Amino acid sequence: MTNPTETYYPGLEGVIAGETGISTISGGLQYRGYSIQDLAEKSTFEEVAYLLIHGNLPSESEFGSFKSRLASARAVPDAVYTLFRSLPTDANAMDVLRTGVSILAHHDADTGSNELDDSIAKAERLLAAIPTLVTAWARIKAGSEPVAPRSDLDFSANLLNMLHGAEPAEVERHALDVSLILYAEHEYNASSFTARVAASTLADLHGAVVAAIAALKGPLHGGANEKAVEVLEEVGTIDNAEPWIRNALETKRLVMGFGHRVYKDEDPRATILKRFCLEISPDRNATEWEEMATIIEKVMWDEKHLPPNMDWPAGRLYRMIGLETEIYTPLFVAARITGWAAHIIEQHSGNRLIRPRSNYIGPEPRGYVPMSERG
Ligand code: ACO
Repeated sequence: MTNPTETYYPGLEGVIAGETGISTISGGLQYRGYSIQDLAEKSTFEEVAYLLIHGNLPSESEFGSFKSRLASARAVPDAVYTLFRSLPTDANAMDVLRTGVSILAHHDADTGSNELDDSIAKAERLLAAIPTLVTAWARIKAGSEPVAPRSDLDFSANLLNMLHGAEPAEVERHALDVSLILYAEHEYNASSFTARVAASTLADLHGAVVAAIAALKGPLHGGANEKAVEVLEEVGTIDNAEPWIRNALETKRLVMGFGHRVYKDEDPRATILKRFCLEISPDRNATEWEEMATIIEKVMWDEKHLPPNMDWPAGRLYRMIGLETEIYTPLFVAARITGWAAHIIEQHSGNRLIRPRSNYIGPEPRGYVPMSERG
């Protein structure tokens, strides 16, 4: 038996649990060497998706073929619609999306293969199909018919078109696209680590993604973008913002959208997205929400030294572009599938099973007592 090291770090805080060439937080968040600020300002989500899945930014011709592969993989099998229509309408959108990815696994000819080329092809197909799953469920739940994907629109425009049955305004398309770039990848976060643990058993890409979706759903992770909006709904008015947040802190309430395991001073994604929210809020009738958010941020910083995380502005941005709350975390999946796929592929190449040890804190050894003699 190998001896575990003595030191235990609850929640694996500060522990280096592996190596990655996909992204780093040290020296500012970068995806494969490119700063997140540059990518958010100059790139598109589809370009970033290519970068994460393939390792480099695409040339024009590589990008052209990537975009047409994505466009032709947007349709999903009829089995998806049949199953979605049979689900209770109060089913959680993240649970439905998890089920949807499982159905896609049954219909993918390469599901069980972990060959590099097959995994890359499966990653592209999932990236293309996830918006179709997300929007199909949103519409079925609302009692309307799903809208077929369009191959002439880019990723974000197609997603919004499938959701609303109408092409989005450019500001809405761009806002979603920037948020997807920022959500795409984040090193050893909980869901990507979940995907890596699953992949390390040589589970296939679909299986590891299903595990990652389950992890992302939790309110301490991706689920926080929906909860952050609920906070502001509860606050309601600018005048109530300061008393509300002071009361929340006095009563030791967890304020969703604040705090981060790694970023203790600033989440750079939140800074970029807040700027974006402030920019478009006047035209979107949302300046009051921005003011409420700013007051809450100031008190959180002054009193607890806690910065907002990415989910804090993301929820507001999505509300500003007219999206229903329960689609926010599924949109996180639509972006993070790129990072997960990159992690799964990286884990499969040069794999070592992830299997740590634990400190035992249970009962001392004791003798078995027959049931008839247990009081
Ligand atoms: N609201 C109020 N207090 C908080 C918050 C918060 N959002 N976050 C941390 N704190 C407090 C803790 O209660 C603790 O206080 P104490 O020292 O008085 O006990 C202190 O700040 C340190 O917090 P930890 O729990 O040690 O921080 P940890 O690194 O374990 O947690 C986490 C990080 C889980 C993200 C936490 O900040 C949290 O629950 N935030 C709310 C959920 C959220 O927004 N999640 C999104 C994460 S980002 C993403 O997934 C894109």
